[in-house]
Amino acid sequence: MERVETLVAEMTLAEKIGQLNMVASTGVVTGPSGSRATHQGIRAGTIGGLFNLWGADEVRAVQRIAVEESRLGVPLLLGLDVIHGHRTIFPVPLAEACAFDVGLWERTARAAAEEAAADGIAMTFAPMIDVARDPRWGRIVESPGEDPWVASELAAAKTRGFQGGDLAAADSVAATAKHLCAYGAVTAGREYASVDVSERTLREIYLPPFSAAVAAGTAAIMPAFIDIAGVPMTINPTLLKGWLRERVGFDGVLISDYNAVAELINHGVAADSVEAAALALNAGVDIDMTSNTYTQGLPAALDRGLVTMADIEASVRRVLRLKERLGLFADPYRRGSAAPDDRDGKSRRLLAREAARRAIVLLTHRCPILPLSPNTRRIAVVGPLATAREEMLGSWASAGRPADVVSILEGLKAAMPDCRIDDARGVDIDGEDERGVAVAIDLCAHAEIIVLCLGESAAMSGEAASRTNLGLPGRQRALAEAVLGLGKPTVVLLSSGRPLALSWLFERADAVLATWFLGIESGHAIADVLTGKFNPSGRLPLSWLRSVGQAPIYFSQRPTGRPTTPGVHYSSSYLDMLSTPQFPFGHGLSYSRFVLSNLRCEPAVVKAGEEVQVSLEVRNDGPIGGEVTLFLFVRDLVASVARPVLELKGVRKLTLGADENRQATWRLPAQALAFIGENLEPVLEAGRFEIHVGQTADPAGFLTGVIELAT
Ligand code: GLC
Repeated sequence: MERVETLVAEMTLAEKIGQLNMVASTGVVTGPSGSRATHQGIRAGTIGGLFNLWGADEVRAVQRIAVEESRLGVPLLLGLDVIHGHRTIFPVPLAEACAFDVGLWERTARAAAEEAAADGIAMTFAPMIDVARDPRWGRIVESPGEDPWVASELAAAKTRGFQGGDLAAADSVAATAKHLCAYGAVTAGREYASVDVSERTLREIYLPPFSAAVAAGTAAIMPAFIDIAGVPMTINPTLLKGWLRERVGFDGVLISDYNAVAELINHGVAADSVEAAALALNAGVDIDMTSNTYTQGLPAALDRGLVTMADIEASVRRVLRLKERLGLFADPYRRGSAAPDDRDGKSRRLLAREAARRAIVLLTHRCPILPLSPNTRRIAVVGPLATAREEMLGSWASAGRPADVVSILEGLKAAMPDCRIDDARGVDIDGEDERGVAVAIDLCAHAEIIVLCLGESAAMSGEAASRTNLGLPGRQRALAEAVLGLGKPTVVLLSSGRPLALSWLFERADAVLATWFLGIESGHAIADVLTGKFNPSGRLPLSWLRSVGQAPIYFSQRPTGRPTTPGVHYSSSYLDMLSTPQFPFGHGLSYSRFVLSNLRCEPAVVKAGEEVQVSLEVRNDGPIGGEVTLFLFVRDLVASVARPVLELKGVRKLTLGADENRQATWRLPAQALAFIGENLEPVLEAGRFEIHVGQTADPAGFLTGVIELAT
């Protein structure tokens, strides 16, 4: 603290504002062109941080200028989007969420932090913890899926993984929980569009993951680009000051999104950079990411009395304190100094394979053609994703390299060396050319099994990648229908950044797997599942829609006065489509078959401060060992406000050998039954609650108990 106060006292206004100015380097581009870093700016102390630059030598070079050539020698804060790996690219976040494995989520973040820190990075703009329920929105690929409880678990695990036990350690990076908040609720799934959600929905759905990130000690938070009910999040004092800093007690750094402070002018809430700078600073945004608005606007804002020196210095202190906590003053070159250890690279690749295996979801298995027989002698691998490498890196893979990726074809060939495996592209991912279909069909004619590799390009999801059509792009459907028309055993591998509306495919293919974008070990992981080396255990972290017309779709709907009831005209439903999802939250088939029985919820009456013991038996009826995921839901039957038909309160994973029986248990505290009351404060109300345990959110698979909460 002494150093911080001394620096604040010594700094000129330009140097203070410099600490609030993070500028893009000339590396990868992650947004519209903003200002670019200059050595002169670093030397002058008017740039306090850089992003999109990495590499031990490259970082040391700019850090040296800041430390040795600027007047006060304040080290730079180097940031980067390390979203799902740095050099070792893991599955995209939506895919990794399918593992429902807190330990895995933390381990991949830890591995990413080690690699990024070795490249001189001290801050990642991750985890992205936006609940997402509308697959039209491209950033659903970066999200933890539809549920706030899952998003909260993932937020905490990733924060722990990135920051490690000691933020000053050479292999730790500051986490940035993003994007606060409700970005996933953009109107019509259209990127950057306005958001209109109720205060209740904010508190029940979109804010809890950020509370979890703060509780886990996130060093930074990034407000979202969007406006909520007309108030851009970048200047939302109610949520940034009122809720986040005062209510939740966050005292870390708020860093704007890319150019977002300047874009307040586009929002129409600021006439110029002076007003934009004042609004953002007064809302508590400490760092202006690459818009240069603080540099341009804060001096005049100060002169006009729109901001105070005290507020500017409060932001400077938060930034300097973060640099101090990161150990940057103690040793500005700490990150990037350790000699890289190749063994780490090998262990991370093994981790990437494990994460990729666990991210794969077996969506359908209509005919038991999986696992592939080891006696299979001829396979045709067909489709535009069969040999894809760059696509497998997903949409945020800054330091990832296509050359590091094992493609689907390579993975299959490595796993089945005695099998002849031919491949044909057939069609491109996008585009109207079908001339390759005939060649692909010829190839399939001689194959015992066809593996059809379909889906999106990595660029079709992620930022600025909303889609209105959730079918297969280009002429992939023509290829698929021609292949399926052969009547041969066909497995479809769907590589995508979102659920796709493909009822026609699910009805016809023998098996379909959601393989998302699995990172550098895609091919090996997919082959592990197809050959049975790994029994698929991935489960959907969202409801998979039948049609884009159903979006947004999610299980924790409120019942309405006319609950969805198939066949009942006057019920909450559609004339032309079932209201249920194609696949429910939690869906994922296994090569095993798990049977649940004997649910017990004790005591039947519980008081505030007590807990309910929930237990059940699980049996693996299948021929091989496997992993079952169990979801604990509650329903508050009568309350002072309408409550969702299901709320997720816990997940359990059990590994069971063939014919093995195990017990799963939860201790559910009565406090978990609290909800946001009419006055938007947490409340615990007496009454009856259903307890459901199932392998998905489909009520048809539930075991149900009822308990009474007495107050
Ligand atoms: C992008 C994204 C944000 C990212 C930032 C820096 O526009 O919205 O998630 O961290 O800019 O690349």
